[in-house]
Amino acid sequence: VLVPVERATVSVYDRGFLYGDAVFETIRTYEGEPFRLEEHIDRLGWSAERVGMKLTLSSADQVAEVRSALKKVEAERGEPGDLVARIMITRGEGPFGLDPAGATTPCRVLFIHPYRPLPDKDRTDGVSAITYATYRPSDAARGAKVGNYLESIVALREARARGAHEAIILGVDGQVLEGTTSNVFAVRGGRLLTPPTSLPILPGITRGLVLDAASDAGLVAEERPLAPADLHDADELFVTSTIRELLSITRIDDRPVGAGVPGPKTRALYEAFRRNAGLPPP
Ligand SMILES: Cc1ncc(COP(=O)(O)O)c(C=O)c1O
Repeated sequence: VLVPVERATVSVYDRGFLYGDAVFETIRTYEGEPFRLEEHIDRLGWSAERVGMKLTLSSADQVAEVRSALKKVEAERGEPGDLVARIMITRGEGPFGLDPAGATTPCRVLFIHPYRPLPDKDRTDGVSAITYATYRPSDAARGAKVGNYLESIVALREARARGAHEAIILGVDGQVLEGTTSNVFAVRGGRLLTPPTSLPILPGITRGLVLDAASDAGLVAEERPLAPADLHDADELFVTSTIRELLSITRIDDRPVGAGVPGPKTRALYEAFRRNAGLPPP
């Protein structure tokens, strides 16, 4: 059922509200076409499996539901512009207590919002980031996209308090993991470095496409554990996500990255990513 936000309600006994017991996906459109929709739906199923949540829709039906909701909103909206679809699936309502056995019917909410591009300045100048050490309490889900983003929220709050755009999260042993809602890459010499998915990070869909594009940009991709020094000493740094695509980080922990401006390799990767995805140049 498509309803205005004011009429969309969820129970206070919903476990997504009570415990962050939920999985989700964020998808964007390019000229009306949802980007990599099937991959996002696969990842949703993978996340649900990791936390033992049984989904009620098949992947094909879930894909069809997103497409149909996007079409309806597009038709009602009557103005051009890309959209963002967010699928939120909670374990549903249950009695108080952590035992999920009492919750039998997942609650599925699909949000459709206009896509808001980044400010031009962020693209032309790059953005700043901080490194942020945390215990990553939600690692039980091992990289699944679950509803509890509290540590990312706390990390981002710290970043914003320090005038930065993003926080790069470091795990307990000081290893670089990922951004609060992004994956992180460093360029050093001819190498493109990023933490491996054997660490508790989200296997970002943009991350995968950027790794595929490495050779087009004349880089050798290396997935390996990184230390904060690898970020501080990088020639270029950037984060990736569905919403931000590739975004240069030109300052980290209050120091410039390389020349302090978005770098040529990041640009080449961004162009290759768009080209390989069949999108117009950035
Ligand atoms: C923790 C985290 N890492 C990485 C990403 C990037 O993933 P994708 O490129 O699939 O959007 C996201 C996206 O929201 C995220 O929340």
